Amino acid sequence: MERKDLLHLISADPQVSPFDVNMAYDAGFDAVIPYSGVSEKEFVPLVQDAMFSRGPRGAQHTAIFIGGSSLSLSLRMLEAARKSFFDPFRLSVMVDPRGAFTTAAALVAKVRKASKDHGLGGLKGRRVAVLGGTGTVGRVAAALAVREGAQVVLTSRRLEGAQEAVDEVRGLFGTQVEARQAGSEEVFAKLASEAEVVLATAAVGVKLLSQASLQKLGGPRVVADVNAVPPAGIEGLKPHDDGTEIAPGVFGLGPLAVGDLKFRTEAALLGTLRDPDQRVVIDPQAAFERATHLLG
Ligand SMILES: NC(=O)c1ccc[n+]([C@@H]2O[C@H](COP(=O)([O-])OP(=O)(O)OC[C@H]3O[C@@H](n4cnc5c(N)ncnc54)[C@H](OP(=O)(O)O)[C@@H]3O)[C@@H](O)[C@H]2O)c1
Repeated sequence: MERKDLLHLISADPQVSPFDVNMAYDAGFDAVIPYSGVSEKEFVPLVQDAMFSRGPRGAQHTAIFIGGSSLSLSLRMLEAARKSFFDPFRLSVMVDPRGAFTTAAALVAKVRKASKDHGLGGLKGRRVAVLGGTGTVGRVAAALAVREGAQVVLTSRRLEGAQEAVDEVRGLFGTQVEARQAGSEEVFAKLASEAEVVLATAAVGVKLLSQASLQKLGGPRVVADVNAVPPAGIEGLKPHDDGTEIAPGVFGLGPLAVGDLKFRTEAALLGTLRDPDQRVVIDPQAAFERATHLLG
């Protein structure tokens, strides 16, 4: 009997994301079953029902995708799923809350490559500023950059906000990030001048760095922005810029250049979830490794 490929898409949020539903169908799943508003207590019983109902061969064609918007909760769910599996009832599982893990993975993979291409030799030993970094994308990007050997500062408009974010990052990833308060153009520009790599990860439509600040930075520097909604987080950086010199010695990566790799990474990972010959656990590090591999 030919087995259907099923993806159980589980989220603690009131709705699952249509972005993930569409991408999963496009990756070839025969059915994508959404579960929203799932509490932590309800999660493992759901996974177990998905594990046992189709027998060992069915398990090879059954996968779990954890969405939602909480970084900590989604990673706790991943760990709980991982612990509940045993041979031969292992399912493949991926976590990507609101696309943030694949976005952060693509962002750090792109800046790592651009840093190599433009005279910085990669991220090892480099200073990285994650501006507006308390969202999920900023937190995970900070952790991935530290794992690549960078010294990272992460900002919020409130110092306590930045401190809470770096505490969570340390707890989840074991990485040390410095918390900084930044809420004005002047402070963002100062932090950018102290870093060789600048990641703009604030909410949509928030301008962090002006063209005038950018012109004064000098290089070599790499700057990247994930906000695709005007105004840009980094003024003058165009959505498709992909290593473009946007000021003397400053090389820019725009949100659509990052978004293109994010899309390819998520598509490739969803394809891996369907592979009956391997059972995989896809966490932010696995997403980063895939994004890096796709860049060549
Ligand atoms: N390109 C892609 O494929 C893709 C995919 C997913 C997400 N994204 C983008 O990634 C970005 C981050 O998303 P997210 O969900 O991680 O975080 P988010 O919740 O959208 O943004 C959080 C950050 O924005 C900062 N912020 C909000 N308003 C601000 C203001 N007026 N001035 C300065 N900072 C401000 C917050 O600072 P405080 O700590 O001070 O509040 C916080 O650090 C968004 O622009 C989103 O659209 C892109």
